[in-house]
Amino acid sequence: MAVKKWLFLFLCFFSLNLQAQRIAIMGALDQEIAILLDSMKTSKKVNHGGIDFYTGKLKGKKVVILKAGVGKVNAAYSTAILVENFDPETLIFTGVAGGLHPEALPGDIVIGEKLVQFDFGQVNSTGFTVSPFRKLTGGRHEDLYIQADADLLEKSTTVANRIELVPISGRKPKVFSGVIATGDIFVSSDEKARWLYEEFDALATEMEGAAIAHICRTLEIPFVIIRSCSDNANNHARVNFNQFVGPASVNSARLVLGILEEIQ
Ligand code: ADE
Repeated sequence: MAVKKWLFLFLCFFSLNLQAQRIAIMGALDQEIAILLDSMKTSKKVNHGGIDFYTGKLKGKKVVILKAGVGKVNAAYSTAILVENFDPETLIFTGVAGGLHPEALPGDIVIGEKLVQFDFGQVNSTGFTVSPFRKLTGGRHEDLYIQADADLLEKSTTVANRIELVPISGRKPKVFSGVIATGDIFVSSDEKARWLYEEFDALATEMEGAAIAHICRTLEIPFVIIRSCSDNANNHARVNFNQFVGPASVNSARLVLGILEEIQ
């Protein structure tokens, strides 16, 4: 009798585990997901829609990791293919960004509380005007700023303040939370960086976050966008990016590993 009971419990646990949804972790570049892939147990690779998906366990959690590619279109496409094939319970994005806040320097973490597309608007003879809202498929309008999941934000902040981050130029990285501005532009201009900071109150800029946020919001998938600064989106951004993309990717990935530990 006892054997039957244990067998029953084992089968229940096994089938529940099979059904448990995965946590999706996405980056745009190889460097951004490299240490996560290295740390993953029993990794298996499958391809859907031209994207390689790596499934396995990280910190004891069922995960699927993918590289989205650069820019909003690649990010949106990858998110759609991911959702169609894996139906993830949560999506965490990890990667680098250009810091816009004067104190957000290479190596620092920026947790995206809100995501905004900075290049969604109209141009006329007087210049570019940002759209006052987002237009959803089906015609509905929503706020231009997309809020990340409150619980994931809380976990991210808690973890960010306790983990060890890679120092850059001997400086201990700082942690910021706030707006991240997304656009299909690698920003390498003092003037554009200042505009993004002033117009959107944005702490960092990158090329994927708001596209992913838009889809997650539409499909009601809890998400968080984690970034570490590789540069300051200023005139030196390209040189700094090449110099710091490695350590900044590691800092962002370390935070993601910490978040996985916090998720029940
Ligand atoms: N990702 C990292 N640095 C960036 C920058 N300066 N502009 C856009 N995306 C980035």
